[in-house]
Amino acid sequence: MSNQSKNKTEVILKIDNLESYYGPIVAIRGVSLEVREGQIVTVLGANGAGKTTLLKTISGVMDPEKGTISFLGNQIQGQEPDRVVRSGIVHVPEGREIFPILSVAENIELGAYTKSDKASIAADLEMVYSYFPILKERRSQAAGTLSGGQQQMLAIGRGLMSRPKLMLLDEPSLGLSPLLTQEIFEIIRRLNQEQKVTMMLVEQNAKVALNAADYGYVMELGRIVMEDEAETLNNSKDVQEFYLGVNQEENQRGQKRWKQRKTWR
Ligand SMILES: Nc1ncnc2c1ncn2[C@@H]1O[C@H](COP(=O)(O)OP(=O)(O)OP(=O)(O)O)[C@@H](O)[C@H]1O
Ligand SMILES: [Mg+2]
Repeated sequence: MSNQSKNKTEVILKIDNLESYYGPIVAIRGVSLEVREGQIVTVLGANGAGKTTLLKTISGVMDPEKGTISFLGNQIQGQEPDRVVRSGIVHVPEGREIFPILSVAENIELGAYTKSDKASIAADLEMVYSYFPILKERRSQAAGTLSGGQQQMLAIGRGLMSRPKLMLLDEPSLGLSPLLTQEIFEIIRRLNQEQKVTMMLVEQNAKVALNAADYGYVMELGRIVMEDEAETLNNSKDVQEFYLGVNQEENQRGQKRWKQRKTWR
């Protein structure tokens, strides 16, 4: 699907004015965003920006203090995680959270915990193996013995077993080589197109995320500070300087731009 036709699809996730705390510490403050059906939407930002907190609040791991999350027209904020999964959202967490002493197959099958139809679970398992043949090869092996990249594949594969409409991916490139990152992102794109999984993708690796995404948001200190078509963000000098860590021009103009950006906080 082209970006243009994806833009016309319906909004399936709509977040308004969301606020989440860790005790007295505010981690996201007034976040509003939209995800359209069939899109890959990325949320970029530095360490501590609030990206993981945002995903945890959507998936029900955390309850928001304020704000609403509508998914397919229903408000889901504050619901238990398993109910959110049943409604069609799956969270592939930062750090993967696999069970190291269980086998690869057992880990993947855990992702089907909301399902009971054995035949369709078996078919979904084959679908997962078709995207990640290495996991089929290693299916009897303890998951803790997989490489980092294979563990990321396992986490995504486990997530697919719930047959999600929306997948929340937290830093799939974390700790992976550039080559393996490319491979994972290629599979994310294929899942988006072939399995019709809408993706909300959190990344510090802005370049790789924007190349895969249709639309992007940039977070800073718990707020959204910028949003646009991924292609536009990819070509934006500010994004290049502040979020890709590229800063070729250490000149007067660069200084001024930086000051302007600081006032967003
Ligand atoms: N369990 C926690 N208890 C207290 N504060 C927390 C906790 N987890 C996160 N925070 C704080 O909330 C803020 C947002 O953290 P979050 O993990 O959402 O950031 P992030 O954008 O995912 O960062 P990273 O890119 O490093 O994963 C940070 O200031 C962080 O210190
Ligand atoms: Mg994080």
